[in-house]
Amino acid sequence: MHLKEVFGQDVIRKRIEEMAKDISSDFQDKPLVTVCVLKGAFIFYADLVRSMSIDPEMDFVRMSSYGDQTSSSGKVIFSKDMEIPIKGKHVLIVEDIVDTGRSVSYLRRVLEARGPQSISVCALIDKHERREVDVKVDYAGFALQRGFIVGYGLDYAEKYRNLPGVFEIVPD
Ligand code: IMP
Ligand code: MG
Repeated sequence: MHLKEVFGQDVIRKRIEEMAKDISSDFQDKPLVTVCVLKGAFIFYADLVRSMSIDPEMDFVRMSSYGDQTSSSGKVIFSKDMEIPIKGKHVLIVEDIVDTGRSVSYLRRVLEARGPQSISVCALIDKHERREVDVKVDYAGFALQRGFIVGYGLDYAEKYRNLPGVFEIVPD
């Protein structure tokens, strides 16, 4: 296999600046908590929040899926929950990639039960081919039809998260 660049460092940087501008203007003067979904979103999150002109509260969650990945009832659990209360505040979930949509729709449901004023979803990549759950990605960096990608936080077996751009894994 080899890696083929899909989105380079400069393209990502410019896109993130635009997203941060949109988010900052949408949440001007509103109490916002941004939630980084570990591990994949950590680099995206760090760049995104540093490009914002607002000062949101920041938190982190980590989810694990278990059971039969292919079953339609595939379950997701928190292995690290949020620490900041979100009741009455606006919440922005920051994901690396939305694929089937299961993790983000689960997280949304769990957070909704805590009484926030609103929940929005931001993802660096909105990947359509395998979508199973109809989720709204309010702020999408890039749309991608298919392919397994790594880099800029995204991994394959915990490797390649450190690549500065986004690459597709292509079989030789
Ligand atoms: P889903 O939307 O519930 O299917 O899960 C999305 C999660 O699966 C993401 O947060 C990633 O961690 C992982 N994932 C999905 N597609 C890719 C990919 O192309 N590369 C790396 N991780 C991926
Ligand atoms: Mg992930």
